[in-house]
Amino acid sequence: MPQSVTVRVPAKVNVQLAVGAARADGFHDLANVFLAVGLYDEVTATEADSLRITVSGADAALVPTDGTNLAARAAAALAARYGRSPGVHLHIAKDIPVAGGMAGGSADGAGALLACDALWGTGAPREELLAICAELGSDVPFSLIGGAALGRGRGELLTPLEVGGGFHWVFATADGGLSTPAVYGEFDRLTAGAAVPDPEPAPSLLDALRTGDAVALAGALSNDLQPAALSLRPSLAETLRTGTAAGALAGLVSGSGPTTAFLTKDEASARQVAAALRTSGTCRTARVAAGPAPGATVIG
Ligand code: C5P
Repeated sequence: MPQSVTVRVPAKVNVQLAVGAARADGFHDLANVFLAVGLYDEVTATEADSLRITVSGADAALVPTDGTNLAARAAAALAARYGRSPGVHLHIAKDIPVAGGMAGGSADGAGALLACDALWGTGAPREELLAICAELGSDVPFSLIGGAALGRGRGELLTPLEVGGGFHWVFATADGGLSTPAVYGEFDRLTAGAAVPDPEPAPSLLDALRTGDAVALAGALSNDLQPAALSLRPSLAETLRTGTAAGALAGLVSGSGPTTAFLTKDEASARQVAAALRTSGTCRTARVAAGPAPGATVIG
């Protein structure tokens, strides 16, 4: 068995997030079109006497290191299934914005699961890893598979999607996170009394992904959680205006926010938009990344 295993896991942006009415279990049915993008966390698993988490990176202080961390829960879930001790040291090198709507916590859960599977030699089949991911959280299965996919149910039932080219993005991070349950709660408040249609993927959006057409994708981007995120964080409207005024094809809130995502026509345009956002004072910083990116991958 290896002494330690490192797994690299991408962030995601939702190019479409169609949200239905709240279900009896409190979750919302979704048509969730995920695209993995090239901002990564790395999770390193090393044998240890007990389960321990450490975190490095600029936002390390914001990441819980107790049993609530999805990486810890992933290791515990795999160990329980295989009747072994969850003794492992998980080190998270964090680069994905924390509580930003880019599935950073989900990435760490998927990464820890794959790393522990390799470290312990459990050899869990892919379907079992995906089932554990779905128990950990709605976005965790996508962090494992990466690429692009349509998520139905609460987002965990995935159909991989074909993508005909690379898309260039700018991600503007904000100070402070937004809580996903709070944003869904605000969605419920804003839609109370209205008929919420069943969520469906937009054919024009799936076509744009398939053909790799950035202009068409920009015209089809949508996020039903955006009004709720803007209601809780009105300053994001100014960030969105700044990115599109700087030349982005379109901008939207990433998932439940508060990170905003801007699609650009090419890499040079992405660098220009990022520079304009950084000097605008409307965000904490801006990062450039392309998608689709591969899912959780053992890199050492
Ligand atoms: O699945 P996950 O733990 O990431 O979900 C966090 C919270 O986000 C849920 O407790 C719920 O409030 C909300 N959520 C939802 N519908 C979804 C996914 C998440 O209401 N499809």
